Amino acid sequence: MKSATLILKVTNACNLRCKYCYNAATMFNRPVIDPAKVDKMIGILAPFDNLHIIFHGGEPLMGGIDFFEKVMRIEEKYYAIRGTKFTNSVQTNGTLIDGKWISFFKKHDFHVGVSFDGIYNDKYRGSTEKVVEAIKRLKKEKLLGGVIAVASDPEYDVDANYEYLKKLGAPLDFNFVFPEGNARSIDLLTNESYTEQILKLFDKWVHDKDGVPVRSLGILCHQALDRNVNLCSNGSCIGNFFCIDAEGTIYGCGREEMKNYAYGNIDSISSIEDIHKSEGFRKILVGSIRRRDNCSKTCAYYSECRGGCTDDAILNGDIEHPNEEWCKQYRTLYSHVKETLAQIKSENVDLSTLNPCFTRILIKATGLPEENADE
Ligand SMILES: C[S@@+](CC[C@H](N)C(=O)[O-])C[C@H]1O[C@@H](n2cnc3c(N)ncnc32)[C@H](O)[C@@H]1O
Ligand code: SF4
Ligand code: SF4
Repeated sequence: MKSATLILKVTNACNLRCKYCYNAATMFNRPVIDPAKVDKMIGILAPFDNLHIIFHGGEPLMGGIDFFEKVMRIEEKYYAIRGTKFTNSVQTNGTLIDGKWISFFKKHDFHVGVSFDGIYNDKYRGSTEKVVEAIKRLKKEKLLGGVIAVASDPEYDVDANYEYLKKLGAPLDFNFVFPEGNARSIDLLTNESYTEQILKLFDKWVHDKDGVPVRSLGILCHQALDRNVNLCSNGSCIGNFFCIDAEGTIYGCGREEMKNYAYGNIDSISSIEDIHKSEGFRKILVGSIRRRDNCSKTCAYYSECRGGCTDDAILNGDIEHPNEEWCKQYRTLYSHVKETLAQIKSENVDLSTLNPCFTRILIKATGLPEENADE
């Protein structure tokens, strides 16, 4: 077996209360997952050749360094027994990062993703100064995986926030808010406005000579160019994406609605076969196959999108049918990106006039020799 990802929800506890947080459904309750449960879960996934662990939450750093060190020992044990290769990352609000965490992340080669909303951070998240300081420190130590901003404000200005966040010099992403947890009770940005703004950002980003990587734009380019995208919402997360929460519930991804399709608790699951035999897994598999089957018959963008995210479909009320609002967004984005790429090709645009991050994607996707980028 090749690669799998485990989202390890260290704890539901969090020292922030972000206004849109989907995790609010857990009431931010405090226990940290029992390391014995983590050991059992990793043992179940150890037959995969490569296992990527994403420490998540709640705020994962509230689990403490001792907990993280225990998980490192568990990884070492399964590497010795089964040869499983581990990589680790953490998604954090950045507020608790200090010298000790920096040393830990360096020692164990972690990628650190920080959630930070830029010009909207005070309004939706808080602790802005601390987080900016943490981002700068992580960047200096070459530990920073990227900065994720949630686009949630009804008046959200993607362009202004890109300009602000770009100064951090880190890979960025602008995730569209999904209506779970706290996000159910606030006014949100509309799908149309988000789509329109992301398209404008794309047009600007392509030509932004000192631009930084924007993950979702890179993904769109790959989807349009080579379809070689290993994205959970497009490449079927089923069977190689797992989440275990602080109580030991195992499910298909970290988002809350997926718990309605849980595979069971770690106390009663001992193998991948147990997961595959569970009612939750069966329902997700059958529902997703039916949705993809529908999509493949009716949608011109099936090859790029492959039926969208299962949690989005569940949120919309029916796992067998995609959320048409999202589909409109996907289709508009794909067709625009494809048109832009075709235009660049037909006009023989000088690649050196474009954003180097974008050029790298073009080269990777089309196999152009690296030196052409500078011609
Ligand atoms: C739930 S947090 C857990 C990890 C950590 N506490 C943090 O904030 O990075 C994981 C990510 O989900 C994002 N998030 C929370 N609620 C969301 C929502 N309703 N829609 C989209 N993203 C959301 C957060 O901003 C963060 O980037
Ligand atoms: S998004 Fe992260 S930091 Fe914000 S309340 Fe939720 S768990 Fe805490
Ligand atoms: S855009 Fe919508 S209909 Fe088309 S493949 Fe994606 S989820 Fe299915």
